[in-house]
Amino acid sequence: MPFNIVGVGPGDSELITVKAARLIGEADVIITPVKKEGSKESTALNIVKTYIKNMELVDYFYFPMVANFAEDSSIKELFKSHGDTINNYLIEGKKVVFITLGDPSVYSTFSYVAPYIDNIEYTPGITSFLNGAALGKIPLCIGEESLCIINMTDSEENLRAAFKLHKNIVVMKVSSNQKLLKTILEEENRSGIFMSNIGMENETVSSDITVLDKKLPYFTIGIIK
Ligand SMILES: C[S@@+](CC[C@H](N)C(=O)[O-])C[C@H]1O[C@@H](n2cnc3c(N)ncnc32)[C@H](O)[C@@H]1O
Repeated sequence: MPFNIVGVGPGDSELITVKAARLIGEADVIITPVKKEGSKESTALNIVKTYIKNMELVDYFYFPMVANFAEDSSIKELFKSHGDTINNYLIEGKKVVFITLGDPSVYSTFSYVAPYIDNIEYTPGITSFLNGAALGKIPLCIGEESLCIINMTDSEENLRAAFKLHKNIVVMKVSSNQKLLKTILEEENRSGIFMSNIGMENETVSSDITVLDKKLPYFTIGIIK
């Protein structure tokens, strides 16, 4: 079995694929990302706990929260060492699964470790914004419409250009720059729906733009129609 990176969906344990649950159940090692060194707190792990037969199979990989991974050489070293650990597990013949929130192709920190591993299988997951569309009971796009996904850590110039071009916008990492998002929405006379902690205990949904005035959780998206 090659190394598997598995999307575990946005929060609800029932919103993971049958394949993801099987791979997690069969794994010899389940790697989960943690934000603090030495911590065992992991949102991805909380989602899949019910599918893990033995919690001793879990290995916790530290992924610091920094703005620009590409420019930090010590972080590159850390990611390379994560790659080495995974390669060593594979040499030992172990079945290794790395769990990631939502889908692995959407802003997953794992993408920085991927270049250090030879043989990777990707198992898709339900993204936060697909669950958000279901929660808001809104189509993300219909007919000839396009859908744009933006990230509030992007430059103001790029973000403004996206709003000029697109009718349907998914806003990721809203909490990174709420002030700018509110300014652009007001200037462009656009409205949106803001959703935090989707599928988790403290889920909130609001279409009131003033929610952007107070600090929202890291797990917040916006859907702009
Ligand atoms: C590093 S990205 C991970 C995205 C993830 N791979 C996906 O497919 O949705 C983290 C961002 O995703 C969004 N996000 C992820 N899970 C979420 C959830 N349960 N509720 C709201 N937003 C979420 C937030 O915008 C957060 O800042």
